[in-house]
Amino acid sequence: MNIKSICCIGAGYVGGPTMSVIAQKNPHIKVTVVDVNADRIAAWNSEDLSQLPIFEPGLDKVVAEARGRNLFFSTEVDRAIDAAEMIFISVNTPTKTYGAGKGMAADLQYVELCARQIAKVSTSNKIVVEKSTLPVKTAEAIKDILDNTGNGIHFEILSNPEFLAEGTAIQDLETPDRVLIGGESTASGQKAIEVLKTIYAAWVPEDQIITTNLWSSELSKLTANAFLAQRVSSINALTELCEKTGANINEVANAIGTDSRIGPKFLKASVGFGGSCFQKDILNLVYICKSLGLNEAADYWEQVIIMNNHQRERFADQIVKALYGTVADKKITFFGWAFKKDTNDTRESAAIYIADKLIDEHANIQVYDPKVSALQMQSDLNYLNSRSESDNDSYLSSEKDPYKAAEGAHALAIITEWDEFQNYDWKKIYDSMSKPACVFDGRNLLNKSELEAIGFSYQGIGQ
Ligand code: NAD
Ligand code: UGA
Repeated sequence: MNIKSICCIGAGYVGGPTMSVIAQKNPHIKVTVVDVNADRIAAWNSEDLSQLPIFEPGLDKVVAEARGRNLFFSTEVDRAIDAAEMIFISVNTPTKTYGAGKGMAADLQYVELCARQIAKVSTSNKIVVEKSTLPVKTAEAIKDILDNTGNGIHFEILSNPEFLAEGTAIQDLETPDRVLIGGESTASGQKAIEVLKTIYAAWVPEDQIITTNLWSSELSKLTANAFLAQRVSSINALTELCEKTGANINEVANAIGTDSRIGPKFLKASVGFGGSCFQKDILNLVYICKSLGLNEAADYWEQVIIMNNHQRERFADQIVKALYGTVADKKITFFGWAFKKDTNDTRESAAIYIADKLIDEHANIQVYDPKVSALQMQSDLNYLNSRSESDNDSYLSSEKDPYKAAEGAHALAIITEWDEFQNYDWKKIYDSMSKPACVFDGRNLLNKSELEAIGFSYQGIGQ
């Protein structure tokens, strides 16, 4: 059976790019991406492709090709659900901020709402695909809701977690390491797997499409993120030791990463990982382990988060220490606010935590980021802390010109590894800063000896 129409609920960082590529590669399938956020949908529909709600290299070209042909963005959720043969659930699954499991478990209210809505409005059989990252066994709950509140029609549930990373989403979608599809072992479950497989097979070699049972698929997504984050925390756990001993973390990472069993990727020391998923997914994994009485496994994975929190705090402490123990009324410039380069996403960015800690010490933070708005920075900080919004406003500002942002600063902190920082006129920046001009390179992006030759006091991570 070949599918002719798809609906995706959730037009966010995953739903938008993923469906754009599916539509681009399958021009015969009508793909409608729906969202309750009308502003987001309007931005997806904007004529000016620089106004898409997500900055992702290459996304504009894909949208330009498919939008209006077989790719549509809409707020008409019910209509799109009923018209589709296959429905992807790609809504947010943040960490719970209330009730049982607060601060750890995944908040599944949006996923449950989707299931109820699908059940309510569907008038024909559907394949429902979990695209959101979900705790293992969620498919059971979704199926229960669909079967018990539906109109007696047949729903098949698949798990098809997404492995794209922001900043490289289009590349990751176009040439994925693998596509994972989990389904039930029943005949109809296997048939549904085949249907979804056909959609990906339009551009992904079949031997890279892995099929498993539902629970393996759900759990593999959580644990893949845990493994990746663990590598970042592992390398970051060595940075302090390098600083104390004269070893250099870049050299150590290179030396260990050339062992093909270890591999070179995800060994870049940093101010700490950010993003909407690593922390949330590990916390969720820890919560699941604890719920099953697996306390040692829970403690093991929690340590990845503890290390990450420590890395962010340590970075802020280093700045205060180097500026003679006080940053009160001093200007500290951040280059970068996004959680990594090539994205405008700031969720859980180390920048927010570091700024918060420095503002507690009454530092004035000025930020330059090529893709993040001042409004977004303020709202990130307001969300994190209990300071009044006007206090946050008075301590945090943003500047659109990096050279102006650096003027008069006592210290400059590289938070995001935007490529453009490497091409700046660092002599000009040095001349305009308060002395001693300190650079704290949270990404080991800049060349230590070149900066020191200019006169900077340079401190990288783990060097
Ligand atoms: P997001 O917050 O950017 O997007 C989710 C969207 O869903 C929002 O626009 C929201 O308005 C919409 N939504 C919520 N409930 C809805 C409803 N009932 N009806 C219609 N729309 C609704 O989130 P995201 O970053 O795209 O993540 C989505 C899921 O994918 C999460 O489970 C996440 O863990 C997972 N994931 C994210 C990434 C990533 O890089 N961001 C990668 C892989 C997996
Ligand atoms: C991550 C995974 O890489 C994706 O496979 C997954 O689909 C996604 O989470 C998800 O489930 O949301 P993402 O968070 O977008 O993707 O970006 P990453 O490239 O993984 O970076 C995460 C954080 O780790 C960033 O802050 C990055 O700067 C940091 N990082 C990464 C390091 O500090 N060092 C590294 O070597 C690699």
